[in-house]
Amino acid sequence: MPFIAKHILEKCKHCNACLDLVACPGAEENICIGCGACTLLCPNEALILIESKRKDKINIEVDGKKISVPEKISIKEALTGIGYVITDLPKEPEEPSESEIFAPCGVGACSSCSVEVDGVMKPACVTMIRKGMKVITTPPSNYMPKRIVCGFVGHPSGGVGTPWTLRKDPKKAIEIVCYTAGCNFQCPQCQNWHVAFRGRGDFLTPSEAARKMFLTNKKYPDVSRLTVSGGESTLNRVWLITFLQKLRKLYKNKNIRLHVDTNGSLLTKNYIDELVNAGMTDMGIDLKALSTDTFMFITGLKDKEMAEKYKKIAWNAVKYLLKHYKDKVFTGIGIPYNKDLISIEEVEAMGKKLFKIDPCLQVAVNDYQPAFRRKIQKTTSDDMKEVYRVLKETGLETVVCQSPDGFICP
Ligand code: FES
Repeated sequence: MPFIAKHILEKCKHCNACLDLVACPGAEENICIGCGACTLLCPNEALILIESKRKDKINIEVDGKKISVPEKISIKEALTGIGYVITDLPKEPEEPSESEIFAPCGVGACSSCSVEVDGVMKPACVTMIRKGMKVITTPPSNYMPKRIVCGFVGHPSGGVGTPWTLRKDPKKAIEIVCYTAGCNFQCPQCQNWHVAFRGRGDFLTPSEAARKMFLTNKKYPDVSRLTVSGGESTLNRVWLITFLQKLRKLYKNKNIRLHVDTNGSLLTKNYIDELVNAGMTDMGIDLKALSTDTFMFITGLKDKEMAEKYKKIAWNAVKYLLKHYKDKVFTGIGIPYNKDLISIEEVEAMGKKLFKIDPCLQVAVNDYQPAFRRKIQKTTSDDMKEVYRVLKETGLETVVCQSPDGFICP
């Protein structure tokens, strides 16, 4: 069914995020194709999708079959209309995925949904269909995806998977960080929404991004940790694995740590194995919640079954990493905290569960401050001291709580 974005003037605060941070696929021709990218990003929810009254159809070719589809829609929409399934979980590389398109970000940032369009790879989620277009949904075997990546800066505190003992001087970088745009969650209080819902950055191949990290590192010669964060770093598996491999190659034998920060929702056992084989040495997994209701509330996911799957995969990933790679990979766990998002009792229950997995795990609690759409109260240092106390009482050895007055550490 064709959709179109509707602008709700009373809600618009003229922040121009939709103009600055969304690559609207129909902007040049003043056509809305109903891809919904602007509706995901608008911090004021002033853009919504409504049904379009367009009736005209055009002919295109998909995987060798001629079909008729409504005009001025995205390729993703056209594929859905003819029976292709848009999934929230990717297939394992060895599984066939005919008629399935993994489209986790919906804003054209991750290239997971890319299809071949008249010989060129383009994201199905934000590419408009055109009369006579030839679409092939299976990428060529030599296809190397690009992702929107930004950042490439020295960072003084690192992320969830950074050992807290490294944070000594708030003015001194301890990691070089890049951020991959696009996310499979739609957290209404997203702390990094400029990146998660596309934002600015360059479309880079893994080689280009690795090279950029390498060059940035030259400005910080004392830094030997490289981090990829997001958005969600794991959305495009081929991109991420190749990126790590390219970094390893560039640094040759140099003792460098490669840190991946993730929400963990796509981390199957095979994916973890591949990351470790590609050279990952540190991993931060942001678990979000223990109960599915809280998980859905925090992540903005509406499909309960999907939310349960994502949550289960992330918790299982923690167990798998510690069981199989404890000596090879430093694992840090992230928990979000704000009274309006999660109860202190649930944080305590998460602490107890993590203690059972491994009492020596580093658990980092991030103080979520008001950001993006959801109106939440400010987290105070006293709130975070309480979180620290509760988690320490579970027996966890290493708890680190971010607070407005700095980190609360062991
Ligand atoms: S889902 Fe289309 S680019 Fe990410």
